[in-house]
Amino acid sequence: MLKAANLCAGYGRDTVLRNIDLTVSPGEIVALIGANGAGKSTLVKTIAGLLPVRSGAISFDGERLDRLTPRERVLRGICLVPEGRQMFGGLTIEANLRLGAYARKGLGDAALKDLMADACRPFPILTPRLHEPAANLSGGQQQMLAIARGLMSSPKALLLDEPSLGLAPTLVSEIFRLIADLRSRGFAILLSEQNARQSLAISDRAYVIENGSITASGTAGEILASDEIAQKYLGVGHRVGDPTSAKQVAMTARLRDIMAENRVL
Ligand SMILES: Nc1ncnc2c1ncn2[C@@H]1O[C@H](COP(=O)(O)OP(=O)(O)O)[C@@H](O)[C@H]1O
Ligand SMILES: [Mg+2]
Repeated sequence: MLKAANLCAGYGRDTVLRNIDLTVSPGEIVALIGANGAGKSTLVKTIAGLLPVRSGAISFDGERLDRLTPRERVLRGICLVPEGRQMFGGLTIEANLRLGAYARKGLGDAALKDLMADACRPFPILTPRLHEPAANLSGGQQQMLAIARGLMSSPKALLLDEPSLGLAPTLVSEIFRLIADLRSRGFAILLSEQNARQSLAISDRAYVIENGSITASGTAGEILASDEIAQKYLGVGHRVGDPTSAKQVAMTARLRDIMAENRVL
């Protein structure tokens, strides 16, 4: 199990993450829902070792990770699929995939080929195009390549940072379907997303992050059912207020005045 306990991190003097507690178990998709700037990328980068931990701990399968290098974390099964895919567009799809196994130096060609076949299995569109530049791929296909590249490190935990960002709606559905399929392979998946509705639809549990703190957590169903979450993240309008409340009575009277004066309509 991947676990963050009382985790604080940030950039320079700025603290971004405050006392984050979070767990992700094998075979589970856990959504990390938050608006732009909430701290999702900071959290996954800190788990991957790209940012230092200020205080608190990160552990995986009971072992402390937070003093290990990023490479050592990759070798223990932690894999970050970064926001924006971060492909090398001028390199072939195959070369991008091979880079995913970089931390595991010394793998022979046969082992790499086996890994590649395995990594591409969920994304068959990649296999016939291995010798094309990655730049030839559409945004959705590049996201598939980014995940396949991650699979090249033989991960146990996948940190997927905004995989749906910038994709057309049909491709968003396709990417989420593919991520849902990965669950059956037993990965612990942390899915960082602004797209709350679709990520919750494929997740078992979720955390909501606001200003660097976890403000809600529960099963995906519980989070979906929360009015507050619905208003903030699911684009659901505010409920009609109590018509007998003083505020509503005053507002209604004011609206009647405005309409009577024919200032609107
Ligand atoms: N490299 C950086 N240096 C300084 N501050 C940063 C850096 N990256 C992000 N931040 C700040 O950290 C906060 C969280 O950002 P981020 O983790 O990227 O949010 P999210 O991924 O949820 O959109 C924001 O206030 C952002 O401005
Ligand atoms: Mg981000």
